[in-house]
Amino acid sequence: MNDSLHLDELLASRSDQARRPLEPSTVVIFGASGDLTARKLIPALYHLALEKLMPQPFKIIGFARREKTDESWRAELREALDKFSRTKPVKDDVWSAFAENIHYCQADMSDAAGYEKLKGMVSAFPHEKLRSNLLFYLATNPSQFGEVTAHLSAVGLLQKAEGGLTSERIVVEKPFGHDLGSAEELNGELTRFAHEKQIFRIDHYLGKETVQNILTFRFSNAIWERLWNRECIDHVQITVAEKLGVGSRGGYYEEAGAIRDMVQNHVLQVLSLIAMEPPVSLQAENVRDEKVKLLKSIRLMTPAQVAENVVRGQYFAGEVDGELRPAYRSEPKVKPNSNVETFLAMRLHIDNWRWSGVPFYVRTGKNLPLSASEVRIQFKSAPNILFAAKDHLDANSLTLRLQPDEGMTLRFNGKVPGGAAELRPVRMHFSYDSEFGAYTPEAYERLLLESMAGDATLFIRSDEVETAWKIVDAIRNAWIGKPLTNREFYAAGTWGPAAADDLLAKSGHEWKNPQRRD
Ligand code: BG6
Repeated sequence: MNDSLHLDELLASRSDQARRPLEPSTVVIFGASGDLTARKLIPALYHLALEKLMPQPFKIIGFARREKTDESWRAELREALDKFSRTKPVKDDVWSAFAENIHYCQADMSDAAGYEKLKGMVSAFPHEKLRSNLLFYLATNPSQFGEVTAHLSAVGLLQKAEGGLTSERIVVEKPFGHDLGSAEELNGELTRFAHEKQIFRIDHYLGKETVQNILTFRFSNAIWERLWNRECIDHVQITVAEKLGVGSRGGYYEEAGAIRDMVQNHVLQVLSLIAMEPPVSLQAENVRDEKVKLLKSIRLMTPAQVAENVVRGQYFAGEVDGELRPAYRSEPKVKPNSNVETFLAMRLHIDNWRWSGVPFYVRTGKNLPLSASEVRIQFKSAPNILFAAKDHLDANSLTLRLQPDEGMTLRFNGKVPGGAAELRPVRMHFSYDSEFGAYTPEAYERLLLESMAGDATLFIRSDEVETAWKIVDAIRNAWIGKPLTNREFYAAGTWGPAAADDLLAKSGHEWKNPQRRD
C-alpha cells in the first residue's frame, strides 16, 4: 500500500449503493455491421465481461443486412477487437465465453419479416428475462428510428408502457436531429411506440469519467460551492480541441459543422454540468431537471448578438505535429467554396441568479495544435494593494482537464524564495493516473452498463435536446447568407482564427490554451 495513504483517505462513499444487480438482458444492435459496433460497442461489452460487470446471463444480437453467420460475425468482431481494444492482448478465455453469447440476425431494417425472425431468436432464449429485458441499440441513421421502432412494436418486442415501467429500452446515437424541428419530429416518432423513460439518447461525453466527476467535484466538496458564483468567478473558458481534421467525414461534416457536431451536444453538456444548480438528489430526473433549467437560462441570441458574440472559423492548409494538413475546402466531399465552420468560439450569457454577468467562453475546433478538453474557472483578482509593485496580480484559476491526462490544476500566487519579494504563479496538480492508476474505462462501457441497468442519468432527455437546439438554431439562423470573413480562417495547427482572440480581447480577456503534458 502507498505509505502516503491514510486510513481516512481510503474511506469511500458510494452514491449508487441502491443499485440492484443487473438483470439478465438481451442487447439487439441495429446497424450491426457498421463502424460503431466494431470500434466501440463490442469492445465496450467485452470489457464489461472482463470486469465481470455483464449481467448473467446475457445475449447480444446483431441485426444487419449483410450475409453472415454467427461464426463469421464473431470472427470479424474478434479481429476488430484485437485492433480497437483498450486493453491488449485480448484474453482468449474471456473472449470465448463472451462470444458464445453473440448472434447474428441477417435482415433488412425495412422488412417486417426480419423482425419476426428476430422475435423467433429472442423467444428461443431459455431464460425468461432474456426474452423480456430487451435493449434495442439503434446504431442507424436517425431517419430509420421511426421505422425500426414501428416494426419492433408491431411484432410485440417493444411495448409502450405508460409511466415508462417496462424492461424494453431504446438507445439512440447522435446526431439527434439537425435543428429543433427535426429533433421534435424524431422525438414524436420515438414516443409513438415508446415512453420517454424508455428512450436513452447517447452523448458519449457523459460516459467519460472526468465529465461525471464534475458533479462529484462540485457537490461533494464544501469549498467550491462558496466560490462557484458571480461574486468570485470572473469568467469561465471551455475548450474542446481536436488535432484531427475532418478526414474522410467531409460529407457528414458539410451538413453538421462544428456547431451541430460538437456544440449542440458535448460542449453544452459539459457547460450545463459546470453551471447547473445542485439537484435535489442524484436520481436521473432530478439531475436532468437541473441541466434543462440551466440550458433554458442561456440567453438566446438575436442576429445582432450573434455577430457580437460568436466567431466561426475554417482551417486552411497547415501543419499539425510536423504533418501537412490540407485546407478544409480541399478535403474529400467538401465543396470548394464551403462556408462550413470547423471551429467555433462564442461568449454565452447565463441569465440566472448565480451567473448573471459572468461570461462563459466556449470554443471547439478541428486541426488545432493538440487534442485536449478543459474547463478553466477564472477567479476574480485579489485587490491590487499590497503587491501593487507589479502591474497586475495573476488571478487564481482552477482547470479541470477532462481529457487526456485527466486531472485538475489550481493556480495561485506564491513568493519566489529570496530577498526580492517577487511573486509568481504556482500550481497544485491532481492527476487521476497518479492517484487511481491508469484505469480509464471507455465512455461506452459506462453508457452500456447504465442503459442495461435502466438508469437514465447519463442520457439526454427530450427537453434537453430541444433546448440545446433552440440555442444552436438562433445562432445558425444568423449565419444564413453570411460567408466567412477573412479573420475567420486559420492555418491548421494553430489555435483558431484571429477573430476568436478579438472576441475575448473586447472584454479584456484572453484564451488560455491547454498545455501539452508530454
Ligand atoms: C463526436 C464528433 O461526437 O465526438 C467527432 O462527431 C469528434 O467529430 C468526437 O471528433 C470527439 O470525441 P472525443 O471523445 O474524441 O473527444
